[in-house]
Amino acid sequence: MTFRNDLFLGRFGLKSRHEDADLGLGEPVSAMIGRRVCRNYGREEVSDGLLETLLAAAQSAPAKSDLQQYSIIVTEKAQQDRISAMIGSMPWIADASRFLVFCADMRRGQRICEIRGYDHVNNTLDTFMNATVDAAIAMMAFITAAGFKGLGTCPVSAVRAHMEAVCDLLGLPKGVYPVAGLTAGYPTDDGRFALRLPPSVVVHHGTYDDNDLENELRAYDVRRNRVQPIAPEKQMHLNDYGVSDDYGWTENTARRLSKRERDAFGAFIRGHGFDLD
Ligand SMILES: Cc1cc2nc3c(=O)[nH]c(=O)nc-3n(C[C@H](O)[C@H](O)[C@H](O)COP(=O)(O)O)c2cc1C
Repeated sequence: MTFRNDLFLGRFGLKSRHEDADLGLGEPVSAMIGRRVCRNYGREEVSDGLLETLLAAAQSAPAKSDLQQYSIIVTEKAQQDRISAMIGSMPWIADASRFLVFCADMRRGQRICEIRGYDHVNNTLDTFMNATVDAAIAMMAFITAAGFKGLGTCPVSAVRAHMEAVCDLLGLPKGVYPVAGLTAGYPTDDGRFALRLPPSVVVHHGTYDDNDLENELRAYDVRRNRVQPIAPEKQMHLNDYGVSDDYGWTENTARRLSKRERDAFGAFIRGHGFDLD
């Protein structure tokens, strides 16, 4: 079996459809397809110099209209531990050498307008989204660069379950909110592939088409359960829905989406300077 097929099999549980799909061992794009989150970190520290390089890669990401509407907080160890304790269920936050928080930042633009004597009239849903996307893309650039340097990373949106406390702890003013945290450090294991939906479901040619979704999902569940079965006691919302003997990614996803998550987010964000008009 070729390395290329190994990668496709690992990622999708499927063989690559094209013989000339262009993947070579050691190529950056192969490393990207092989990426997985890291939740187990060793004690080796990420040096300040390496961190500076990775942050430069993050800041090299594209940004909407070159407005660069995001900020990155490099947490102190005490803040990292505090956030880990707040969340409670994710010890990898404290274990990682570094914990960053990628924030959408509308405030800087507001200040720039003030400095230059203009009214900032873009406190809108569009700005909220642009700033959020900027932060997310910068985080992904950091993740990719970190992977090339042998580091593992894990995004942590759980910081948004504690918005007020996290904003307080990091001194985030109105107009700046945490999109996601990110752990970074040297991995102690290889992690494992989380099998992705097949490209036939996610990639549409010409027009959107989900006619075969149910069949595709059934086949995806079978493939995924083969390599990543979910134990009955790990099924989601067991108390409400009980144990299903037809459990896979699809049932897990449906159960997760059947309960509202982070219900207070909208109210918090409106009270934190974003009008979302
Ligand atoms: C925006 C975002 C938020 C996430 N939040 C968390 C989190 O709070 N805790 C965590 O352990 N993993 C978190 N993850 C990691 C996902 O669970 C992980 O990417 C997914 O299970 C697929 O695994 P893989 O990245 O190894 O392929 C997050 C990922 C993203 C992109």
